[in-house]
Amino acid sequence: MPFVRINELDRHVGQVVTVRGWVATTRSSGKIAFVVLRDGSGYLQTVFSKREVPDATWTRLADLTQETSIAVTGEVRADARAPGGHELTASEVEVLGTSPDFPISPKEHGSAFLFEHRHLWLRSRRQVAIARIRNEVVQAIRDFFYERDFVLVDTPILTGSIGEEAGNLFSTDYFDLGKAYLAQTGQLYVEAGAAALGKVYCFGPTFRAEKSKTRRHLTEFWMVEPEVAWNDSDANMRLQEEFIVSIVARILDRRADDLKELERDTGPLEQVVGPFPRISYTDAVAKLQGLGSDIEWGKDLGGDDETLLAKEYDRPIFVFNYPKEVKAFYMKENPDDPRTVLNNDCLAPEGYGEIIGGSQREDDYDRLLARIVGQGLDPEAYRWYLDLRKYGTFVHSGFGLGLERTVAWICGNAHIRESIAFPRQIHRLYP
Ligand code: 4AD
Ligand code: MG
Repeated sequence: MPFVRINELDRHVGQVVTVRGWVATTRSSGKIAFVVLRDGSGYLQTVFSKREVPDATWTRLADLTQETSIAVTGEVRADARAPGGHELTASEVEVLGTSPDFPISPKEHGSAFLFEHRHLWLRSRRQVAIARIRNEVVQAIRDFFYERDFVLVDTPILTGSIGEEAGNLFSTDYFDLGKAYLAQTGQLYVEAGAAALGKVYCFGPTFRAEKSKTRRHLTEFWMVEPEVAWNDSDANMRLQEEFIVSIVARILDRRADDLKELERDTGPLEQVVGPFPRISYTDAVAKLQGLGSDIEWGKDLGGDDETLLAKEYDRPIFVFNYPKEVKAFYMKENPDDPRTVLNNDCLAPEGYGEIIGGSQREDDYDRLLARIVGQGLDPEAYRWYLDLRKYGTFVHSGFGLGLERTVAWICGNAHIRESIAFPRQIHRLYP
């Protein structure tokens, strides 16, 4: 008997097949029983008729509690009204694994309970839809760069120098060499890659010992970081715009069913077309003050400021040229206003805030060294990074897009933590 995945049933209409999966729901009228089965590729209603199946089979249906793993054999019928477009007229069911008292019932549970049972919660309809959207976003990212001739450079997770800021580092003992840090970013390494290959990107897990418990922060998150030789800050923003537009369009095109499962209003996502508004940090501060924020020039935009500002627009926006003091050491000083750097954040609409941080990099050896020293970092740890400015320095820019924040925004989830299978937060290391 051929074994078929639910999303392949259209090729088997009229045939008798076996489908394996887990019981989602059951209901019975006493004469007809419906067992909805899921196998990860979709949902299938299987229909048992008391008159048509052996008594032992009918009796066995009583054991099919939620999440029991089963194999159902029957004839595939096309049915436009059925979810997925098919039904199975079942002739036999085999129990493969029982599931007594599955903890997550269709009723409402609190989020603490759900995260404690994350390993089981992943099976629910919403979580499956989010996982599929994440998968599609990842593939959209990889295809975007592959099609534009970027080369993937995998960067180390164990590092000897601080990538972003000293405040939120995870460190571990590293043999005789002292401390190693878990990478906050792959950027410094892809800069070396850009000098070798021109257009590169890295894409992997990054770590921040974030003490903040906001809905935008994880301690472990995935970041994609392109780095492009000869791109200035302006070209960097154009690349970000093209990138975000292409990701969102692909999800609207290919994951419409999952967005529907999440009851995502796709209207705002359909607005995500270029050009994105660009506003300087200085103008943003003035605008925010006008909107009632107490921000002052020189301070970084907080999450609330980002939300307030982004609400003024119907698509992602760029805020560019922040004060040097609040930004990382590697950003290039703005020749027109040395109090600022040539950087940008990209803020998503609908209150999601920063999804990208990017900048043109300081390509002048002496200035970079001064910034490293000025921030109290050990120049010896950055000797290799400084070498990139010593041997054929070059204008270059790049950015980092946070995967989970992007997925949360596209899915319309209030909190970032459902965007990854097993979120890591200050208070969560289990499961
Ligand atoms: O702005 P960030 O810190 O920039 C960098 O790490 C640069 N090295 C990137 C580069 O230029 N190559 O982080 C980039 C993005 C943020 O915009 C956000 O989307 C995400 O990474 N991010 C986080 N996501 C979840 N949890 C956290 N704690 C995050 N911190 C940053
Ligand atoms: Mg940032």
